[in-house]
Amino acid sequence: MPDFSDALVDRLSRADHVAVLTGAGISAESGISTFRDPDGLWEEFEPQELANVEAFLDNPELVQGWYRHRRQVVEEAEPNAGHRALAALEAHVPAVSVVTQNVDDLHNRAGSSTVIELHGNITHNYCVDCERDAAPGTVDAAIQHGQPARCPDCDGLIRPDVVWFGEMLPPDAVERADAATAQADVFLSVGTSAVVYPAARYPVVAREQGAYVAEVNPDTTGVTDAVDESIRGPAGEVLPVLVDAVADSDGGAEPTP
Ligand code: OAD
Repeated sequence: MPDFSDALVDRLSRADHVAVLTGAGISAESGISTFRDPDGLWEEFEPQELANVEAFLDNPELVQGWYRHRRQVVEEAEPNAGHRALAALEAHVPAVSVVTQNVDDLHNRAGSSTVIELHGNITHNYCVDCERDAAPGTVDAAIQHGQPARCPDCDGLIRPDVVWFGEMLPPDAVERADAATAQADVFLSVGTSAVVYPAARYPVVAREQGAYVAEVNPDTTGVTDAVDESIRGPAGEVLPVLVDAVADSDGGAEPTP
C-alpha cells in the first residue's frame, strides 16, 4: 500500500489548482524506456549523436529513422494506470495542469485536458522550411524507400516536433508551465529524475510560492530534499490509490478506472 500523508489528501481535495510535472518514469509501466535508468534509451544510443540539428542535417535519414522507430514504440504503447489517475483527478479538482517532459502523447491519450508539452510531441512532424505539419505516413513511406523524408509542398526536410540538444524549449509551453506552477495549491513531481532544467526547478518554485509539493518516484531525485513529501513507489500503483483517497474524502465518488 503506498504511503502518503492525510495532509496531502486533504490539500488535494481542497485545491483549486493542482500542477503535475511528469517525466519518463510515468511511462515506464507502459513499456517505454526512461532516459537515465539502466536499459534507458540513452544507454543504447548516443543521444548527442542523434538528437541535435547538426546530426539531422548531416544524416537526415538516420535521425528520421530513429525517431520513426521511437514513434512506433509510443504508438503501440497504451496509457497506464498512472496516466489515467491524473486524468481522473480532474473530477475532484477544478483545474489540473500536467506539465510533461515526455514526448509520448500518453497524457493526451489518457484524457488529461490540460497537457503542457515542454519537450514537444514525437507523434507530430513538420517541415523545417515551410513549417507545415507533415503526416507521419510521409516519413514512413520515405524511410521504407531508403530516402530522407521531404515536405510534399516545398521539398524541405521533415523533422519530429521534439526539442533537441541545444534548442530552446517552446516559449508558449514554458509560459504556460510557469503560470501553472505559480497557480498551484498542490504540486506533484512524478517519474522524473528532476535533473534537467528548467523542468527541475518547477517543484522548487512551486514550494517557494506556497504550494504543498510531493514527489512520486521509487528512488530519490534531484528535488527530494526540496519537497514536503516523497512517496516511494511506481506511479501506476501510487497515483490510483492517491486519487481514490481524494475521491473518498470528496464524498465517495466513483473509484478510479
Ligand atoms: P529520467 O530517465 O532522467 O528519470 C526517470 C525517473 O523515473 C527516475 O527518477 C526513475 O527513478 C523514475 N521511475 C522509473 N520507473 C518509475 C515508475 N514506474 N514510476 C515512477 N517513477 C519511475 O527521465 P526524465 O526525468 O523524464 O529531455 O528526464 C528528463 C529529460 O532528460 C527528458 O525529457 C529528456 C532527457 O534529456 C529531452 O529529450 C529534451
